[in-house]
Amino acid sequence: MISVGPGVTRFKVGDAVFGSAKIKNGGALGEAVIAPETFLARKPGSVSFEEAACLGTPGITAWNGLVDKANLQAGAKVLINGCTGGVGESAGQIARMLGAEVSGSCSAQQKGRAEQLGVTQVYDYRTTDISKIADRFDVVYDTAGTMTVAAGLGLLRKGGVYLDINPTPGKFIRAVFDRRLKPIVCTARNDILDGLARSASDGKLRLPVALTVPLENAIALVTALEQGRKLNGKAIVSMP
Ligand SMILES: NC(=O)c1ccc[n+]([C@@H]2O[C@H](COP(=O)([O-])OP(=O)(O)OC[C@H]3O[C@@H](n4cnc5c(N)ncnc54)[C@H](OP(=O)(O)O)[C@@H]3O)[C@@H](O)[C@H]2O)c1
Repeated sequence: MISVGPGVTRFKVGDAVFGSAKIKNGGALGEAVIAPETFLARKPGSVSFEEAACLGTPGITAWNGLVDKANLQAGAKVLINGCTGGVGESAGQIARMLGAEVSGSCSAQQKGRAEQLGVTQVYDYRTTDISKIADRFDVVYDTAGTMTVAAGLGLLRKGGVYLDINPTPGKFIRAVFDRRLKPIVCTARNDILDGLARSASDGKLRLPVALTVPLENAIALVTALEQGRKLNGKAIVSMP
């Protein structure tokens, strides 16, 4: 923390923090960024800056879905479409922390990683049409954005919810009429950030860092990711 504005009570200059920038303002890929204090938490001493940098947006989005929208309870059954991506991996760990049973889909190469995360039933999305599986769930969390709303809703148990983080205007309108459909827009709060920090400190929430590059290589990295380069975890841009 290099400076605090008037009214800031949670932080002081010199604190090590992590979190998220405001999506509308952007600017997180810089040596300094202005963020509201609700978007930040103290970085636990046992968590590196690189690991903490992975937690913000994926962790907040996963929390928004499972806790805020689905009110996930112990014993619930959760299906995560894309369970080894940033949001999916966060959602899987948070769901397990809350005592849920987690199934998920990913590519065959990521099956072992999903199993290590405690995903009990792993579906290869290239060989399984997830909408055809026989199982039914209290929560279906589509992180990959590859499901149709009809398929998601079709996989629900009575009272279940379908969480969608790739919402379109049409889905927002549909959600007004069908309360099972919950579009999500990543929304940070102090209690979420503090929960993520606690979970990371307890070793219950970790996203693997696949690669760290200096700022001057950031554009090449983003271009490669846009062109389909796959990483086994998050890419970090380190600041000079
Ligand atoms: N609404 C919001 O506020 C919000 C917040 C965060 C992210 N998002 C959006 O959510 C999406 C996911 O974000 P992320 O950070 O988790 O991305 P990510 O780390 O790239 O993860 C995407 C995952 O989807 C998997 N996948 C690809 N095709 C699939 C398919 N056909 N079926 C099932 N899984 C498939 C990928 O698996 P493989 O790598 O094994 O192919 C990967 O693990 C992005 O579109 C992002 O823009 C929205």
